[in-house]
Amino acid sequence: MRLDYITIFPPYFEPLGLSLVGKAIASGVLQVAVHDLRDWTHDIHRTVDDTPVGGGAGMVMKPEPWGEALDEILGGEQQKTCLVIPSPSGLPFTQQQAEDLATYDRLVFACGRYEGIDARVAAYARTLVEVRELSLGDYVLNGGEVAALAMTEAVVRLLPGVIGNPESLAEESYSASLEHLLEYPVYTKPASWRGLDVPEILLSGHHAKIAQWRLDQAEQLTRQRRPDLLG
Ligand code: 6GU
Repeated sequence: MRLDYITIFPPYFEPLGLSLVGKAIASGVLQVAVHDLRDWTHDIHRTVDDTPVGGGAGMVMKPEPWGEALDEILGGEQQKTCLVIPSPSGLPFTQQQAEDLATYDRLVFACGRYEGIDARVAAYARTLVEVRELSLGDYVLNGGEVAALAMTEAVVRLLPGVIGNPESLAEESYSASLEHLLEYPVYTKPASWRGLDVPEILLSGHHAKIAQWRLDQAEQLTRQRRPDLLG
């Protein structure tokens, strides 16, 4: 998979060299390019924003640099590509979205700042590739960069060969095998720590009973914390 990020703050993407994503780049599973939007401006101040038409507070990202950047980065694209625009007004980014994006050859993240990107940019981009405006959740970040990093991690860990033991993907929160519930609590040794004991059933060696206990715990946790996830 190839990932491109268009941003006015390229250093936000330095952490991509770390951990699993960094290893995926080193192993060749992943190629990454970070682009400075200001490289597609033509004025001395390298201006990327302007006041909102119709009035109001804040600034809006101008369409011209975005149009030139997208033409260059997406121009003549033949592979299965999605332009992701992180936005608090996007559709919810879910595990299902991550699984779907993991099937693409190429993802391009358009990271806006200020009050957002002129809406014609998404409309124009839809004439070139598939476009998804996606939100991490019901809160506002200062820009799309942190959201793009979060989405990247959720997608890249699903790519074949990125996670050492793919079985660890099977039973985690939101996974189908856990009926899309929150994950059950996990423990390691020692069996007793500071007066707190690992639940006895987990020490029993009885795999069917352990599986039932974990499912019960997942259901209880989901009922308490995320009743919206229960059918
Ligand atoms: Cl994707 N972008 C921004 N700017 N804020 C957000 C978000 C995205 N998701 C939640 N808040």
